[in-house]
Amino acid sequence: MNARPVGIHDISFATTHYVLDHVVLAQQHGVDADKFHFGLGQDAMSIAAADEDIVTMAAAAAAPIIERHGVEHLRTVLLATESGIDQAKSAGLYLHSLLGLPTAARVVELKQACYGATAALQFAMALITVDPSQRVLVIATDIAKYELGTAAEPTQGAAAVAMLVTADPAILRLEPVSGVYAKDIMDFWRPNYRTAAVVDGKSSVLAYLEAIEGAWQDYRDRGGRKLTEFTQFCYHQPFTKMAYKAHRHLLDSQGFTPDPQTVEAAVSDSTGYNRTIGNSYTASLYLGLAAALDGHADLSGRPIALVSYGSGCVAEFFGGTVVDGYRDQLRTAANGNAITRRKPIDYDRYRALHEAELPSDGRRHVLPEETSGPFRLAAISEHKRIYETRTEHIELTEIN
Ligand code: HMG
Repeated sequence: MNARPVGIHDISFATTHYVLDHVVLAQQHGVDADKFHFGLGQDAMSIAAADEDIVTMAAAAAAPIIERHGVEHLRTVLLATESGIDQAKSAGLYLHSLLGLPTAARVVELKQACYGATAALQFAMALITVDPSQRVLVIATDIAKYELGTAAEPTQGAAAVAMLVTADPAILRLEPVSGVYAKDIMDFWRPNYRTAAVVDGKSSVLAYLEAIEGAWQDYRDRGGRKLTEFTQFCYHQPFTKMAYKAHRHLLDSQGFTPDPQTVEAAVSDSTGYNRTIGNSYTASLYLGLAAALDGHADLSGRPIALVSYGSGCVAEFFGGTVVDGYRDQLRTAANGNAITRRKPIDYDRYRALHEAELPSDGRRHVLPEETSGPFRLAAISEHKRIYETRTEHIELTEIN
């Protein structure tokens, strides 16, 4: 008996209320903006407002999925993040109540740097393979933050991607073969007492390349497809130039000559959203997937590769086949709106937001109402986050 295919049935993303243009940041750093535009492949970065966090973004990403598909058979919520808001309680539980999900559910938060959402996707596949009637909501949500004035600062960003994983998916059939790689290294980390990550930038780039090559080797050893079978490659994108570096490295390591046109054709569609959003850690690879699906190329019936990396480090290489008719399920217009409706801010406003810290004294603090999205962080009181829902703003039924 053939097992039913399992994969991504719906995908939706949300980003922040504000955006900082990299021309502004380049002036502040005293460097040519081309360094950011071409050297890193970044035009801008999403910046969270005072009343936004990983929960408000996650809920905004997932709400349209719940509206379209309901909650029937949804028994599991897997939320991946590395910018968690609590050491004990899963951020997924705040989302669970904001979205009115059923009490008959398991909700958990996963962490392994930018790789966490890939683990969530694999766990979701395993659950559905055992019981194909079940549906799993996977959410990747992060705010990437580095110290001001550092080389890593232009690679900040923020976004959440929500995916409904089911049997007989309408968008992407995930393939069971996958290659993995893990190694205990210190290329990027964030001790509990810090809000900004610590990073050894140059060594992290080399660690990423070594890890994805290791994951690719394991994938091939387990009977995975040949490199030439994939139409497009979606890589984790800490900055979009990294996807190009990664693809060149992979081709080179397998004895191919990585000519610019081949690399461009394999990677460029997937960089469209990340270029202007910045690094969104766990969400970055899946923003790449959303951009590839929303791109010009018709991917119906085509195999695409997903290449995940999380510092520390873990990598995974896996593939999926795009389902015929997938475009009817996409949210291309809503995705474009999420990007264009962001409000540009100047450097001083960005800096104030970057330096702001949530009060930790346990008293009631009301947060300024800056956003206009469906969910906001309204206050902190007795060490609890108080969220507010503006249901009239949810773009619920958009299908384009
Ligand atoms: P940097 O100091 O900007 O590096 O740091 P650079 O001076 O070598 O410049 C970068 C590129 O810009 C170079 O190109 C320059 O030639 C070019 P490359 O040699 O790389 O091809 N350049 C210019 N191009 C055009 N016009 C110009 C110009 N000037 C220079 N005028 C670095 C870069 C990525 C190290 C830094 O931004 C950083 O530390 N970022 C954070 C760490 C990171 O993103 N690492 C990536 C791999 S690790 C990862 O992906 C995991 C992560 O997402 C975390 C997680 O897993 O949770 C980070």
